[in-house]
Amino acid sequence: MPDMSGKNGIVTGAGGGIGRASALAFADAGARVMIMDIAAEPLEETARLIREAGGTAETMVGDASDEDLAARMVARTVELWETLDFAHNNAGIGTAATPFTQQERATWDRVFTLNVFGTMSFMKHELRQMEKQGFGAIVNTSSMSGKNGSPGLSPYNASKWAVNGMTQTAALEYAEQGIRVNAICPGATFTAALAAWKDSSPREYEGYTSAIPMKRAADPREQADAAVWLCSEEAGYVTGSLLNVDGGEGILGKQ
Ligand SMILES: NC(=O)c1ccc[n+]([C@@H]2O[C@H](COP(=O)([O-])OP(=O)(O)OC[C@H]3O[C@@H](n4cnc5c(N)ncnc54)[C@H](O)[C@@H]3O)[C@@H](O)[C@H]2O)c1
Repeated sequence: MPDMSGKNGIVTGAGGGIGRASALAFADAGARVMIMDIAAEPLEETARLIREAGGTAETMVGDASDEDLAARMVARTVELWETLDFAHNNAGIGTAATPFTQQERATWDRVFTLNVFGTMSFMKHELRQMEKQGFGAIVNTSSMSGKNGSPGLSPYNASKWAVNGMTQTAALEYAEQGIRVNAICPGATFTAALAAWKDSSPREYEGYTSAIPMKRAADPREQADAAVWLCSEEAGYVTGSLLNVDGGEGILGKQ
């Protein structure tokens, strides 16, 4: 595991799934984490798990699409710990599968408000601080859906292509200033939505995972470990990368 001791950073959507795994993984690697989620109790549970293991976590409850909150989280991190070394912009939502012609504008708005404008807001305030310091690393949670077409998931799919675009543009704009910007592109990851699907439709779930080259969904910790590595010094020459963490699913048929 990379050594992140003495480093300070932000993780959004840290009340569950990949965000909680990421907060725990950064803390396990020695970092102090400023974590946020829209759900207070699960967020406090993540903080409790970190503190119980001897780590340092501060919490802020709110909506990751709120730009003022993004600014306040960056300011609070620097006020407490002086630097913002890394950030994992992870909060995001999906939708039920719906054909393109049936998608409501309200669904596009909801998905873009969090996945695109939320990620953009956090990136903007994180980059302002990192620019002042002259160093820092950001990782966004995108998706394999941000590299392919995803029938039924048009708003989500387009939002993750947007995350990938923002990641690469920011990587180029800030490369000379010692700031790296990357994304993880998870494939199927065993968080709440997949667990519910497995319970309700075990045969469909089995059929889906058996089509993944590694024959299983990812554990959230596997996404988290990739995020920690991308923010660590070991990934010092990696920027603008959209890292597939998908058991080989994304390259199926592309050999
Ligand atoms: N699980 C997968 O298979 C998968 C695959 C590809 C990409 N992703 C991406 O990973 C990220 C996390 O997904 P997950 O599966 O861990 O989800 P999850 O639902 O398990 O956890 C998401 C967390 O985000 C929080 N959240 C929701 N809306 C929020 C908001 N407006 N502000 C702040 N917090 C909010 C939730 O309360 C929850 O704690 C998302 O960006 C998702 O698109 C997930």
